[in-house]
Amino acid sequence: MAQLTGSNKVKTAVFISGKGSNLKSLIKFSLTKNSPISIDFIISNNSKAKGLIYSNIFKIKKKVFSFKDQKLSESKVLYILKKNNIKLICLAGFMKIISKNFIRKFKGKILNIHPSLLPKYKGLNTHKRALKNKEKYSGCTVHFVNFKLDSGKIILQKKIKIKKNETENSLAKKVLSQEHKLYPKAILKIFNLQRKS
Ligand code: GRF
Repeated sequence: MAQLTGSNKVKTAVFISGKGSNLKSLIKFSLTKNSPISIDFIISNNSKAKGLIYSNIFKIKKKVFSFKDQKLSESKVLYILKKNNIKLICLAGFMKIISKNFIRKFKGKILNIHPSLLPKYKGLNTHKRALKNKEKYSGCTVHFVNFKLDSGKIILQKKIKIKKNETENSLAKKVLSQEHKLYPKAILKIFNLQRKS
């Protein structure tokens, strides 16, 4: 296969609200020769999101919109994405539920990562609920975004064992480190590529 260079990679925007550890892993992945995507824009609803730091570190454009007026913010985001030729969106800890109208404009082109084995534990506090229910396994899921929260077609999942003395914190840590591997792998999968080690 011909090597993908910066100019022919699929331009991608990552949406974040917090720490941005998945953003960081996606950026690192995008810089490898094997990556079909480049990260060209970071969008956040939170001006204090720690992950925005990666915009400076990796020289990637960023914009923050409050999303208080969701319709207005989304129309500005759509304008920017179009202007920057963005073809794929990766939600990575983005804490706003995007509208049907927005999803329609990027149909089949929005991915999300969720810290549970979907369809189990959609929504928030996944680890807390998994532990409360004495689950033996948890994990993470990368899926396409559709109109229903955390319900789109699953691309890849990683299952991990929950230990006897597992805490919410230890579980969150374990799952997050798997997320960092799973998201790039899922992207390779949708482009019919395989990870080169
Ligand atoms: C991750 O656990 C992700 O699955 C969830 O929010 C968290 C974001 O973490 N949607 P980070 O900001 O990527 O570090």
